[in-house]
Amino acid sequence: MLKIGVLVSGGGTNLQAIIDKIESGYIKNCSIVTVVSSKPGVYALERAKKHNIPAVCIARKDYPSVYEYGEALIRHFEGLNVDLVVMAGFLSILEENFVRRYQNRIINIHPALIPSFCGKGYYGIIPHQKALEYGVKVTGATVHFVDVEADAGPIILQKAVYIKDDDTPETLQKRVMEEAEWEILPEAIKLFSEGRLEIEGRKVRIKEV
Ligand code: GRF
Repeated sequence: MLKIGVLVSGGGTNLQAIIDKIESGYIKNCSIVTVVSSKPGVYALERAKKHNIPAVCIARKDYPSVYEYGEALIRHFEGLNVDLVVMAGFLSILEENFVRRYQNRIINIHPALIPSFCGKGYYGIIPHQKALEYGVKVTGATVHFVDVEADAGPIILQKAVYIKDDDTPETLQKRVMEEAEWEILPEAIKLFSEGRLEIEGRKVRIKEV
């Protein structure tokens, strides 16, 4: 059974997509053993509780540094023998020690086609605002392994979403979430759980069944 720890900071729609795919049996032999929010009172915590998943807030603001915060997260995840850490709308920085401890076992969903519209300061609605400002015709979402540099780890899956002339950042964000994020994040977890992801330098090869 693959033990999954999910890091959240907001509404938890990506968390919900994972829960739904596990409960439907599409993702097998996986269990979300903990949901950790970096902020108190977010709806992601309610979603976890509705599905009887242990959920806690380990608030970033309660720790004097990124390092101490990372150490607290490591203690939490190690205590539960977590095998895979999933960042699902998580808005805090994971410090280097954490990334090294869970090297190639942390995945993140980013709301753009990396390397476009990513890196420091590109989160939530901002990538969609920048995509519209730039005038790109296609955007989408990316699931990648987490490395020490933000949004720079080997890419696992991407899905494109075409931009419409009347899109606003809000309508675009909603369509990218519905058509891309909520599909490729659970899919990446399924592939990981089946041992089908092979990292070769910057590339991730998906092994056939
Ligand atoms: C979404 O834009 C997602 O792409 C980004 O965080 C935002 C909120 O996600 N990673 P969620 O609803 O909390 O999963």
